[in-house]
Amino acid sequence: MELVITIPLVLLHACILSPRTAAAPALRHHQYPKETAAAEALLQWKSTLLRAPPSLLSSWRPGTTPCTSNWTGISCTTTTTRHGGAAAVTGISLPHAGIDGHLGELNFSALPSLHHLDLSYNSLHGEIPAAIFVSLPALYYLDLSANWLHGDIPPEIAAVAVA
Ligand SMILES: *[C@@H]1O[C@H](CO)[C@@H](O)[C@H](O)[C@H]1NC(C)=O
Ligand SMILES: *[C@@H]1O[C@H](CO)[C@@H](O)[C@H](O)[C@H]1NC(C)=O
Repeated sequence: MELVITIPLVLLHACILSPRTAAAPALRHHQYPKETAAAEALLQWKSTLLRAPPSLLSSWRPGTTPCTSNWTGISCTTTTTRHGGAAAVTGISLPHAGIDGHLGELNFSALPSLHHLDLSYNSLHGEIPAAIFVSLPALYYLDLSANWLHGDIPPEIAAVAVA
């Protein structure tokens, strides 16, 4: 019983005695927030698109960020930490948008909070990226219908889709 109590105390001491090691990751997080990583990934994807109506993604501009700058089709959540507010992209919704491109060009690792992805009725080509199923733990809504996608859907996802 005593051992169970002792372990957290030791950990607490370690935190108090080495504030510099505790502060370093927090500072890095502050300088490079999730929203910035998401902005980079979305801008990179935009640059690979073969076609999109000129006005559609005009709000997706370098030097702005998806949540604070209210990018078209992007929804966000804001969490408050002791370092201030941090926004994360939770949704991409661009159905019937005339987008022609490859979904595999979108870096899903930079969108770990994504839970809603609707790109139905566009002209997306290529394989359904496996990253959708491995890099998006929070994903619960996925609509890629009416595109030109091909490839395998993991059996566990397919089972849910058919049910
Ligand atoms: C975000 O943009 C949409 C249309 O692009 C607009 O309807 C909405 O009012 C904007 N929201 C904010 C908070 O600016
Ligand atoms: C994708 O995003 C992750 C997380 O932001 C980043 O570490 C990685 O370098 C990115 N990959 C590419 C190819 O840009």
